[in-house]
Amino acid sequence: MWPYPRIIAHRGAGRLAPENTLAAMRLAASRGLSMVEYDVALSRDEVPIVLHDRDLRRTSNGSGNADALSFAELARYDFGGWHSAAYAGEPLPTLYSIAAFTLANRMHSNIEIKPQPGREALTGRVVARIAARLWKDADAPPLLSSFSEAALSAARDAAPGLPRALLLEGPLPCDWRERMSRLGCIALHLEQARIDPDVVRAAHGKGYKIAAWTVNDAERARRLLKWGCDAVFTDAIDTLPGVLQPT
Ligand code: G3P
Ligand code: MG
Repeated sequence: MWPYPRIIAHRGAGRLAPENTLAAMRLAASRGLSMVEYDVALSRDEVPIVLHDRDLRRTSNGSGNADALSFAELARYDFGGWHSAAYAGEPLPTLYSIAAFTLANRMHSNIEIKPQPGREALTGRVVARIAARLWKDADAPPLLSSFSEAALSAARDAAPGLPRALLLEGPLPCDWRERMSRLGCIALHLEQARIDPDVVRAAHGKGYKIAAWTVNDAERARRLLKWGCDAVFTDAIDTLPGVLQPT
């Protein structure tokens, strides 16, 4: 159940293109990346949108919270111009459009379920249900991950066949094994600075995969992969894949 590559492009193409847009996924594909991570939340009318922040200001010319607007209202905004003129006019993607692109280009997906507060179970359920449908004929399933255990638990109930990963920030909590087993997760996605050989051994000892976010330094990526990390998330899609080349 782990058909995924060792390098995963974070938010599409890191900082080289506007994060979480179709343009970012296209750039990652053109640079030879075979897996992308992106964040999925819901518009007010429960359309799965690809967006990191609840507040629209950082990555669009809109303002306010995404969950206060319908998808039709969100579609009026430009999600690329904040990055650079070359990307002005980039629309807010949906899980549907990103699925179409990644599937057509045989790229793997890590769908990070990023619910707005109070919508954890709803987002987990809607995203998992739609993903199961969109990927039903795919060679490999998308990997669902979340910091929200309520979202992961709802995703498990809605689409038990899709693999799940628990995202954690900070030190590994002492009850991580119980949480993993309760949620039926197959992988731990940990902050890269919290990973050392003992953590990798502990995860593998329980039969779990381990991935590190977000690794932009090639030397650090080399070390994490040498310790046995199964994957690293990176913004540095232009330089980091070089660590896989023999030296
Ligand atoms: O999924 C790994 C990473 O994306 C988690 O942090 O804030 O970039 O979504 P964030
Ligand atoms: Mg993310």
